[in-house]
Amino acid sequence: MKIVAGSASKHVARFLAGSLGAQLVEVQAKRFPDDECYVRIMESLDGEEVVLVQTTHPDRNLVEALLLQDAIREFRIRKLITVIPYMAYARQDKKFNEGEAVSARAMAKTVSLRSDGIVLVDVHDEKITGHFTVPAVNVSAMPRIGEYLVKSARVDLVVSPDDGAMHHAKAVAEVVGCNWSWLEKKRIDGTTVEIAPKHIGAKDREIAIVDDIISTGGTILTATNQLKLQGARKVIAACTHGLFTSGALPKLRATVDYVLSADTIENETTIVSAGPEIAKGVRKLLEKA
Ligand code: R5P
Repeated sequence: MKIVAGSASKHVARFLAGSLGAQLVEVQAKRFPDDECYVRIMESLDGEEVVLVQTTHPDRNLVEALLLQDAIREFRIRKLITVIPYMAYARQDKKFNEGEAVSARAMAKTVSLRSDGIVLVDVHDEKITGHFTVPAVNVSAMPRIGEYLVKSARVDLVVSPDDGAMHHAKAVAEVVGCNWSWLEKKRIDGTTVEIAPKHIGAKDREIAIVDDIISTGGTILTATNQLKLQGARKVIAACTHGLFTSGALPKLRATVDYVLSADTIENETTIVSAGPEIAKGVRKLLEKA
């Protein structure tokens, strides 16, 4: 098996290769003066099962993924599994208003075209796997976040900002060996959220808030303020996908005690790798085939 790493996913691809005992392939990727992308696979992939790893955010990384799929298919490969550590455009997974695109579906169909299987990580909604036209599995980085917290903190409560993410809180708490709960979030608009003053026994606790994505940081900031109002001793924010748009990180660091993320989007808070969990997804797909 050979692993092809796109330029957005080198860290996670290295850990994936380690977990699968597979070899990373040398890839040349560069940009022309007009920012168009050029890729070249530097060794033969004939006869191989190939795993391509590339986050599709921002758009330029999606284009690189499509070119890499094309380059890989130039060889006589046995199979191509495309791993999308962070699937962009997944949050619009249905039509809210007449005339809208369902972006999750559009992306899913496009990346399926040259793949035999897809692995996603903490995709916004598990149902999105149904939009791919080839078998797709979703794995979670939450167990790895839990393992990191066991080693580096003394968390005694794990919470999610809303009920939609409670399965993440549960998954982390199971590894940490502590209680879990969830808050009640209401999204007002793209940058504003409200968290209801739900009492979850935060007083004197070291709490980890976990979510799939941190984008503007509004959700985590509002949740942290609520937990600190309730007397939380320490608040750690952990997510799989650290987008940190609109200067979110300095704002978060002013309020939250510690911020961490997985390597689905490489950034300065990346401390855990989703690679070992992705390896399980790849094996599952290959066993099914
Ligand atoms: C929403 O459903 C997601 O799970 C996250 O809670 C959301 O994307 C976080 O966004 P922000 O950091 O902008 O509040």
